[in-house]
Amino acid sequence: MKLTCGTAVIFLLAACVPALAETRTVWLDELDLGVIHQGWGTPQPRKSVKEREILMGGKRYERGVGSHAPGSIHVELDGNAERFQAVVGLDDEVGGQGSATIKVFGDGKLLFESAVLKGGNAPVTLDLDVSGLRRLTLIMGDAGDGISYDNVDWADAKFIVSGESPKLVAAPREEAVILTPPPPASPEINGPRIFGVTPGAPFIYRIPATGERPMRFAADGLPAGLALDPDTGIITGRVENPEKRTWPVTFRAENGHGAAAREFHIVVGDTLALTPPMGWNHWYAHYDRVTDAMMREAADIMVSSGMADAGYMYVNIDDCWMNAPKHRDPKRVGPLRDENGVLVPNQYFPDMAALADYIHGKGLRAGIYISPGKLTCAGFAGSYGHEALDAKTFSDWGYDFLKYDWCSYSEVAPNKRIDSLKKPYIEMSALLRAQDRDMVFNLCQYGWGSVWKWGEEVGGHCWRTAGDLGFELTGYHDVARRNAAHHPYARPGAWNDPDYLQIGYVGAANVMGDPVPCPLTPNEQYSYMSLWCLMAAPLVYSGDMTRLDPFTLNVLCNPEVIDIDQDPLGKQGFPVVQEDGFEVWTKPLEDGSLAVGLFNTEELPRELTLDFAAVGLKGKRQLRDLWRRQDLGEFENTFTATIPRHGVCLLRVCPAP
Ligand code: GLA
Repeated sequence: MKLTCGTAVIFLLAACVPALAETRTVWLDELDLGVIHQGWGTPQPRKSVKEREILMGGKRYERGVGSHAPGSIHVELDGNAERFQAVVGLDDEVGGQGSATIKVFGDGKLLFESAVLKGGNAPVTLDLDVSGLRRLTLIMGDAGDGISYDNVDWADAKFIVSGESPKLVAAPREEAVILTPPPPASPEINGPRIFGVTPGAPFIYRIPATGERPMRFAADGLPAGLALDPDTGIITGRVENPEKRTWPVTFRAENGHGAAAREFHIVVGDTLALTPPMGWNHWYAHYDRVTDAMMREAADIMVSSGMADAGYMYVNIDDCWMNAPKHRDPKRVGPLRDENGVLVPNQYFPDMAALADYIHGKGLRAGIYISPGKLTCAGFAGSYGHEALDAKTFSDWGYDFLKYDWCSYSEVAPNKRIDSLKKPYIEMSALLRAQDRDMVFNLCQYGWGSVWKWGEEVGGHCWRTAGDLGFELTGYHDVARRNAAHHPYARPGAWNDPDYLQIGYVGAANVMGDPVPCPLTPNEQYSYMSLWCLMAAPLVYSGDMTRLDPFTLNVLCNPEVIDIDQDPLGKQGFPVVQEDGFEVWTKPLEDGSLAVGLFNTEELPRELTLDFAAVGLKGKRQLRDLWRRQDLGEFENTFTATIPRHGVCLLRVCPAP
């Protein structure tokens, strides 16, 4: 080529001006959506979360991603993108319901924050400069009013990219940090401080205490008829005095490292479960695989793991201990009842009375399960037509707790009228009360007919307020909010039950699976336990007892956290501040202090401030961090803490001295 002067100039210019890199468009819906961190609904490419066309404000969008708040999308840009553009709002499929908020962070800094987006409103358009950023985080919040109908679309969402394509990545993994220091070697007495028993009924109570064994126990002021084994701390017997009255008792425990004392009240009267029942139930770990051996092992581990030292005491069998008319395992198929009408347990349960005795031998209490229908939910023998005999059988066998699960009773009472909903529970509670044992009566009918309004009247001590939490475990916080709405109905002997604690190893409910690590992050597990305690919920662990790890035990067994649940005042806490991504829950306690939970429900760690006035407090207060068992000191009017994603700061707030 012959060079002319002009060509040389062009070459020179090209050498001096930085190359204008070519840009291209990468659509969000082309990337691997499987890693979107989201509990509700599966994100959909080019469709709404309900797999319909993306439609907002009547306009159809060809491209985009349908998702559900709360959730987050983490994008690795590695400095390769220049702009992020999207049209965001609630899909028309929610019919004008729902509300959500959108935040976009670039390398941890807020780039965009929407107002509350409501169903039916016009979507918002984003066009953000993301040049040089390594990480973009898209956050969908529930706007503080629950998650129903929060179907968020990221329509026309795209990156303008000059280098490699962006990648969607999983949310950063959390380390399972054990917040609670191990209990001291010297004794500490834990668990409830009040316990109800009916006059003359058998009493069994193992004083829950941490500290090095051997330990010597004493109990001052025990009513006549009760005796304490000083080596095990197990109290048994029957209160001789038939009078309905309260017996103040002082428990004492002593070992080579020191001594402890704790006041305890035995209330002889008509009310059981003066604090929410604490224990273990086999359902979410073993489903229809449960055996007598597993129940005994659970009782052993309740003691050896330290759970009983924190106050756990019921070892409860759920469904599938009886025979079924048909089942995949032939050893669970057989006659439902014997010639006298007595229930026949399946081959995995050779002796139900011996099982209860075994559990009692550890100082623990035994629980059993049946349905008022002809069959249980899993298709095993129900009580219908045999209620009186079953109540007597459970009592004769020595059970202390009955879960009465509606299941097939709908065949008997299909209309769901309130009187029909009440009927089987009225009948069974009267039968239980007629026995020579105290049996805590656990209603399970999924909250139908607003059971919280009449559960106590029909003789229940606790009642499930919703369907099975196992089917929506990652939605535990929303389940808690719904359960908390019934707080005015909770009181000693009458508890709203949002279902079991499913942490550690649990089986997926939809397939009745084998136990696997629970899907919740460590901080979510702290929040879950904190919510349950603030709500005075029954604390019934339902994971695999043989695979309890130190983290799970730390979440389950912090005595000061459990004290919030077991507080004798028996008030159920509820959220008093509900903002987008931030909630404050409170629960008044017997000693005049207030339990306060600060929850960060957002997708990134945040600094959050408790305004004392917002929870009805003024001036100076002493604060204690319950998970860390640490005094934080005195604060005036506000308290600020950095709370991890979906984490909690659980406080006891006391008047300043
Ligand atoms: C229902 C209950 C569960 C469990 C199963 C057993 O689903 O809600 O808690 O008891 O039945 O089949």
